[in-house]
Amino acid sequence: MNIVILAAGQGKRMYSDLPKVLHPIAGKPMLQHVLATARELASGRICVVYGHGGEKVPEAFTATDVTWVRQQPQLGTGHAVLQALPYLDQARPTLVLYGDVPLVRAETLHRLATLASDAALALLTVRLDNPHGYGRIVRDNGRVARIVEEKDADDAERAIDEVNTGILVAPTAALARWLPGLGNSNAQGEYYLTDIVGLAVAEGLTVDTGHPDHAWEVEGVNSKVQLAALERIYQRNVAECLLVQGVTLADPDRIDVRGELVCGRDVFIDVNCVFEGKVTLGDGVRVAPNCVIQDATVGANSVVGPFARLRPGTVLGAEVHVGNFVEVKNSTIGDHSKANHLSYVGDATVGARVNIGAGTITCNYDGANKFRTVIEDDAFIGSDSQLVAPVTVGRGATLGAGTTLTRDAPAGELTVSRARQSTIPGWRRPVKMPKQS
Ligand code: UD1
Ligand code: CA
Repeated sequence: MNIVILAAGQGKRMYSDLPKVLHPIAGKPMLQHVLATARELASGRICVVYGHGGEKVPEAFTATDVTWVRQQPQLGTGHAVLQALPYLDQARPTLVLYGDVPLVRAETLHRLATLASDAALALLTVRLDNPHGYGRIVRDNGRVARIVEEKDADDAERAIDEVNTGILVAPTAALARWLPGLGNSNAQGEYYLTDIVGLAVAEGLTVDTGHPDHAWEVEGVNSKVQLAALERIYQRNVAECLLVQGVTLADPDRIDVRGELVCGRDVFIDVNCVFEGKVTLGDGVRVAPNCVIQDATVGANSVVGPFARLRPGTVLGAEVHVGNFVEVKNSTIGDHSKANHLSYVGDATVGARVNIGAGTITCNYDGANKFRTVIEDDAFIGSDSQLVAPVTVGRGATLGAGTTLTRDAPAGELTVSRARQSTIPGWRRPVKMPKQS
């Protein structure tokens, strides 16, 4: 099947300099969601018709399986598909998708495609309580006769509640016959793709209709209000999926997954956690409230948070504790190790059974380059220590509280860097001087 994604429209009501199809759902441009769905359906090339926002749209993608077709000016959906026509294989049907309808499911589209053939056009339609603004499906004795746009419809047509989602599958050779001949004498002065329905009927082709399982699949984004609504639907679907797999969510309405979250058995996730990129949580992991976890792996029975941040490249072993206001980046922390309070662990290799005291900082950056810190098994890092990388804390070593470590700490020994404590006898606090008048 050929796939054409229309993405040239302006998105005026987004009130944004960012082209509409680049606005994110779950951290990825809307258009990327549509491309991912398209790839589930067809392995061939995908045409994306772009225009408004210029090269910003193709520049946002690195995919090599996309043919970018510029539509300038944008004269309507029929004109848009016409621009893609030279890149389509006429022996195969063409599916038309919309870059601003991001949640349509491959299953629904697959079902629609089975209705189409050389002699049949398949439209995805839906009945809406409020059909205002949409093209209406006009039927004659139950059979689809044509589509009429809201702005061109009379009162009787406006009363029809079956609407055009815009998504359709058409025989491509027929598109090649119809599209160049479309007119624009309508209320909007546009070349309407929807006019092909009347042409198909006139030629004796069958026009079949398929329907989505869920209304949200065909909801488009024209404003930030609709963007936010679809974001919530997306997140709710992800949460359902996690619940079905056996993950416990303190509140399925308060989790955000912007990427892929893979969970083992008996995982518990408390409220307001954000997962980005690819995150893997092992069996029995507990994530306390308000954590941000990105591209990280958390081993079995570990506890993260509350208020922890795991950044890319974090790999926690089993039964690791990462507590409040602890940031871990590009670091491995071995089994049974703990960093429970107020720490930065960056570019570090931490062994097993290590205790990282409150306020410990790995100073991994000298302003120009980054260096690694190695903390071997069973080390104990006293609170408020700074480990100036590159530096190694040997196996079983202890650092006294407040140590600024600039050279390796030998295994098994106590290393302290602070000045010796002294008391100044008779010292008095300063007193406020009397005001001069
Ligand atoms: C279109 C349909 C309408 C349907 C509705 C569903 C037509 C004539 N009407 O109307 O029946 O109910 O979608 O949302 O097709 N686009 C381009 N180039 C253009 C014009 C549009 O790429 O020249 C893209 C837009 O970026 C958008 C999509 O096509 O993704 C739909 O365009 P829009 O102007 O929103 O069409 P509607 O008037 O909503
Ligand atoms: Ca629209």
